Amino acid sequence: MPPARHARIVAILNQKGGVGKTTSAVNLGAALARAGKKVLLVDLDPQSNLSMHLGHEPTDDAPSVRELLADPAVRVKHVLVKARPTLHLVPSTTELALAEGELAMLEGMHYRLAEKLAASRKDYDLILIDCPPSLGVLTVNALVASQEVIVPIVPQYLALRGLENLVKTIGMVVAHLNPGLELGGVILTQFDKQALHSRAVVDEIESFFAAARGTDGPLRRAKVYEPHVRRNIRLAEAPSFGKTAVEYAPDSPGAQDYIALAAQLVTTWDALAATAPAGGTTGATAAEAAPAPAPAPAPAA
Ligand SMILES: Nc1ncnc2c1ncn2[C@@H]1O[C@H](COP(=O)(O)OP(=O)(O)OP(=O)(O)O)[C@@H](O)[C@H]1O
Ligand SMILES: [Mg+2]
Repeated sequence: MPPARHARIVAILNQKGGVGKTTSAVNLGAALARAGKKVLLVDLDPQSNLSMHLGHEPTDDAPSVRELLADPAVRVKHVLVKARPTLHLVPSTTELALAEGELAMLEGMHYRLAEKLAASRKDYDLILIDCPPSLGVLTVNALVASQEVIVPIVPQYLALRGLENLVKTIGMVVAHLNPGLELGGVILTQFDKQALHSRAVVDEIESFFAAARGTDGPLRRAKVYEPHVRRNIRLAEAPSFGKTAVEYAPDSPGAQDYIALAAQLVTTWDALAATAPAGGTTGATAAEAAPAPAPAPAPAA
């Protein structure tokens, strides 16, 4: 009998575009799979970059995350792509952009992804959600479904300003939709240790998190994860082969950084699981911890 699983659900989010959300989601996913974990990647971005990065060509007639969100009868197993033996994918299509407005009007919409993923937690160790660069209904679904947010940041001027805005959104979600959500931390991407401002941005973020430590808010254990992910061409090249850099160039600096980061995340999550109070809400997602919302009507055919 395979051991019982109970996936941790993690949203990879920054409302700023091009900061390495998708690169982090696929390479962390591949590194976690390489370390023996069973991983589900959810592509919640109409750009479908994550799906393509894994070599999956989206077609408009195959069911995707759009149907998973819109149709109460569609389950994860109906849209699942077994991209690798232990790295599965809920794919996206560009159609999701058209559907976003419709989806926003469905009753109980913010809980849709949480409800669907709750049924799959027993099948995976980790579920990573690649969010679009916005704070709309798709991203709110990811935040309601998750226990933790990881924020990739390029260490540039005003990076902290974007993080502060994201923290406000997380605070709203914690207050109204998912009390168990935490900001796990930040991953620095495209990191150049020669650049003076890189260190300054890291220091600024560390001070911001230090101010929240000891509180009981969603930033209470937030940290800057290490190592920082170096700027590395292999990370940018790999998607054109339909592969992650962890598969395509495992010895490259970028892949090595994601492999080391995945190991640090596993250590952090294991420590957290060991200290979780019995019967507490740590480990519960909104779909499990909050009262179930009223069932939504089926969308018109
Ligand atoms: N560490 C890195 N070194 C070099 N290139 C990188 C690195 N991380 C990401 N990139 C490249 O930067 C670009 C943006 O990365 P990515 O698509 O992961 O960002 P994103 O936040 O998902 O973007 P979007 O907001 O559009 O979804 C891509 O071309 C990617 O290959
Ligand atoms: Mg992306």
